[in-house]
Amino acid sequence: MGIANQMAFKSDRLSEKDRRRVAEFVTHCSGIQLPDSKQSLIESRLRKRQRTLGFSSLSDYVRYVFTSREGCNERIHLLDALTTNKTDFYRESNHFEFLRHYLEHAIRNHRVWPSTEPFRVWSAGCSTGEEPYTLAIELSEFQYRFPQFNFDILATDISVSSLETAFNGIYTMERANPIPELLRKRYLYRSKERSRNLVAMSEQLRRCIHFAEFNLLSNNYAHLSCFDIIFCRNVMIYFSNQDRANITRRFHHRLKPEGMLIVGHSESLVGNQELYQRLQPTIYQKK
Ligand SMILES: C[S@@+](CC[C@H](N)C(=O)[O-])C[C@H]1O[C@@H](n2cnc3c(N)ncnc32)[C@H](O)[C@@H]1O
Repeated sequence: MGIANQMAFKSDRLSEKDRRRVAEFVTHCSGIQLPDSKQSLIESRLRKRQRTLGFSSLSDYVRYVFTSREGCNERIHLLDALTTNKTDFYRESNHFEFLRHYLEHAIRNHRVWPSTEPFRVWSAGCSTGEEPYTLAIELSEFQYRFPQFNFDILATDISVSSLETAFNGIYTMERANPIPELLRKRYLYRSKERSRNLVAMSEQLRRCIHFAEFNLLSNNYAHLSCFDIIFCRNVMIYFSNQDRANITRRFHHRLKPEGMLIVGHSESLVGNQELYQRLQPTIYQKK
């Protein structure tokens, strides 16, 4: 794009009315709060969609999304553009250390895994898949040592494009760097086209994870099974206190007795303290 065009795009701002319309829609659908201070972020992310669809201004794009019949299908892309998907393999790695100790402790106490029920983990807000694949690597390692251990992972997100990346399980080598070398050798494959520097998650890992679209604000929790651990990290940070409290209460119903809820490093439980015991900062056990 020429410099003149770029300048024109940058000077094209969202009106207050359009900003509010976008923010209200996003909060209504996903719980994500977009206060006034996020105006530039909203504009820069929507500009990409505006350009892709060929609209000459942001307001034309917003009008298309909210007032035309065809625009309805674009709403999912608008939502996608405004969710923050930052994630990493082994992000906040002390949570995976905790998981290792927790499993060691459980297996030593019971000598064999206590039931034929698989150990169930839910990665709620899994983004592009780095979190559930990290879990799959850790749990596969444990299964390697204790073959009677059986597990499955549910990985959900509201963002369809993130889920597509997660499902494909293909990443750049740089993204895979936080995975220890030995584990990379065991569970990842280099892409055949060496020049593209891509790695693919092994079939073994992909088989352990069930990916699904799920809106944490919805009321559809009842059809989910019960979990030993729920990872919901760096998701609720964008929600109102009321939404956080509702979601952690629903998680409580979906945890097995003494199940764990793990949240992100900058998060804590709001309300519902009576439902959980805090074991460590960001790690809670169902009472
Ligand atoms: C910052 S990422 C966190 C990814 C991962 N849990 C981690 O900590 O690395 C937040 C994810 O939450 C998802 N999300 C936001 N609102 C959601 C909602 N209402 N229901 C389900 N997922 C949501 C976003 O699409 C995004 O992928």
